[in-house]
Amino acid sequence: MPVTVVIGSQWGDEGKGKVVDLLSEKIDIVARYQGGANAGHTICFDEKTFVLHLVPSGIFHEGVTCVIGNGVVIDPVALMREVQTIKDLGFSVDGRLLISHNAHLIMPYHKRIEEVRERARDEGAIGTTGRGIGPAYVDKFARTGIRVVDLLDRDVLRKKLTASIEEKNAILRSVYGAEVLDVDAIIDEYVEFDKIIDPFVTDTTQYLCSAIAEGKRVMAEGAQGSLLDVDFGTYPFVTSSHPTAGGCCTGLGIPPTSVDSVIGIVKAYSTRVGNGPFPTELEDETGERLRATGHEFGATTGRPRRCGWLDLVALNYASMINGFTELCITKLDVLSGLDEIRVCVAYRYNGKVSTRFPSEVQTLTNVEPVYESFPGWAEDISSASNLNDLPANAISYLRFVSEYLQVPIETVSTGPKRAQTVTGAARELKADLSRRPAVAP
Ligand code: IMP
Repeated sequence: MPVTVVIGSQWGDEGKGKVVDLLSEKIDIVARYQGGANAGHTICFDEKTFVLHLVPSGIFHEGVTCVIGNGVVIDPVALMREVQTIKDLGFSVDGRLLISHNAHLIMPYHKRIEEVRERARDEGAIGTTGRGIGPAYVDKFARTGIRVVDLLDRDVLRKKLTASIEEKNAILRSVYGAEVLDVDAIIDEYVEFDKIIDPFVTDTTQYLCSAIAEGKRVMAEGAQGSLLDVDFGTYPFVTSSHPTAGGCCTGLGIPPTSVDSVIGIVKAYSTRVGNGPFPTELEDETGERLRATGHEFGATTGRPRRCGWLDLVALNYASMINGFTELCITKLDVLSGLDEIRVCVAYRYNGKVSTRFPSEVQTLTNVEPVYESFPGWAEDISSASNLNDLPANAISYLRFVSEYLQVPIETVSTGPKRAQTVTGAARELKADLSRRPAVAP
């Protein structure tokens, strides 16, 4: 079966952009299935760095078709800006970028509602990216959303927008005492998108299912991370979509039986941006060091990311709900130079030690991590191209992670560039994967 899903296994920012870009060499189609311009997928090549927010990370390979599926919420202004940047870089998008006619749109009122709601939450704020993601998904499920297909019919768009903006203005005025939006200005701006977006719009579900039937190789690119999933993440400190493996079927309209591999992208330590529980967070010099060395600042918002040790309890949970068939460890080079590296292997809560991940915030906020300690390595590993180029301590660390999760580590990334990657690592890592399946007890 031809579909591979690539998923962030932590709280996002694991380095999915680099991995999808790299794997795109052997892929026909890359499809985004959830989220929106809250994502920031970074790709480095030719000594330059690009950040993609909506367009799939296969766009820099001319032979790859990129699909924005029905599960994505699209900000047309951000999308068209991104498309222009890609064209300016010399890459074609004609016939290579397909947008689902069923995808929902993010409108200026979604961002405004999000802004006032976050402000009103005060200390309970989620710390969203401010891109209007949550309110756009709310409208989708309230069945009042505006879809890409609506952009193509000016009369329908005008009618739907008027109703929506009037409703949102009533909420802004009466609930939040906030400034209202100008109905006519928004309509004038958005009716203009019909001709710009039209060449890209199609029935992407039909396209993908036909491609799968023809045996084309498809990669479903997740955004954010498993622990931000609206059902399985640390609710309410989550995003409003399903970054987990199941989301790719509803977000693209492809059958579960078409998926044969699920690659979990794991950063060699943990980061989180925004609020919410983070058991292994380091609010000390080591945390600062990880942030500085790993350039841990949001690719979309520029916010400093919270940093901490790798959390295998959380990762085992992510592996259980996604069914990872292989792992890719990213940013291993950031750990170079640390004397000691710690890994969380269990949580202590109310005097009991457990390896279950309690996604409920009340418990997760109060767990105490139980750590296993590993000696670090001093060597610069950023030019390693083979597993055996890595120091013995780095190999031991990887083997421990693979054996704890009982999932092979196939790829190790040691820097942002395409060349800074070790592939086929599992064969040489020789981890014992015979112990137990990766399910929480
Ligand atoms: P939203 O997706 O903008 O609604 O934000 C909800 C939560 O998800 C916040 O904690 C954000 O910081 C986080 N988040 C959203 N997108 C990303 C991402 O691409 N990387 C990391 N965190 C994200």
